[in-house]
Amino acid sequence: MKLNPPNFIDPAAATALQHASHVVVFTGAGVSSESGIPTFRDALTGLWERFDAASLATPAAYRKDKDLVWGWYEWRRMQVLRALPNPAHIAIAALAQFVPKLTVVTQNVDDLHERAGSTNVVHLHGSLHTPRCFACGRPHHLDQEIPREPEGGRRLRPPNCDHCGGSIRPGVVWFGESLPTQELNSAFTAAKQCDVMLVVGTSGLVQPAAGLPARAKNAGASLIQINPVKTDLDGECTWTLYGQAGTLLPKLLNMAFPNMDLTRVA
Ligand code: APR
Repeated sequence: MKLNPPNFIDPAAATALQHASHVVVFTGAGVSSESGIPTFRDALTGLWERFDAASLATPAAYRKDKDLVWGWYEWRRMQVLRALPNPAHIAIAALAQFVPKLTVVTQNVDDLHERAGSTNVVHLHGSLHTPRCFACGRPHHLDQEIPREPEGGRRLRPPNCDHCGGSIRPGVVWFGESLPTQELNSAFTAAKQCDVMLVVGTSGLVQPAAGLPARAKNAGASLIQINPVKTDLDGECTWTLYGQAGTLLPKLLNMAFPNMDLTRVA
């Protein structure tokens, strides 16, 4: 492992990308933070300031106080719908044109990768945009108009299922729940097959997703991490680029592929 000073990009990382035949980009909340979406380790504000995200993101928390938890997710959905993809999302989408195969695997429940133009994104932790019934599991259609939640948030009664009348829950994976099998298998397969994995904006604390970089490394891939701070994944990574994804990722990809258009959003 090479320890780089802040904002330094080792040209060897760019060279590894140039020679890669399958690149996996594995993202966490940090890739969306420059779009204004708080990470999970940021302190909550407003109605939720006395909670931490992990204590609201459980089936038990929802059972105990559905209005509090649904209100929190609607407030987050509003933030996401108002947000725009940032240069990191755009660079990841552009990369698809420059490598033979690209797989984007995210822990994020927003759709900013898709809105930047990435396709077939593997969402390991579900999506804010696919709610379903807590009782019968059927999908529920939510208005895609931006909800008008007050800035400080509010408690909000979840809608009821059209089929069984049960309460609607967000379509995200909560702590204590299993990850969707197909997505997890796709991510494991891609990690095993790739020759470079870009690990962007994740603390690497939440399993099983946090195990993906080690799987890729054990299968022979080089790992390039981008994060402003040290993480538990530093030891796994061939290169860690310390800095903001929105700055370093476009620079790295531009070093590797000088013809890349980093202005385009699909
Ligand atoms: N660029 C790159 N990385 C950044 C940036 C940025 N601009 N801003 C913050 N980061 C980094 C932080 O330093 C941190 O390491 O992003 C990481 C965010 O970590 P978490 O909030 O823990 O997010 P994540 O790793 O995605 O969390 C995993 O935990 O709460 C659950 O299900 C939730 O999917 C989430 C999972």
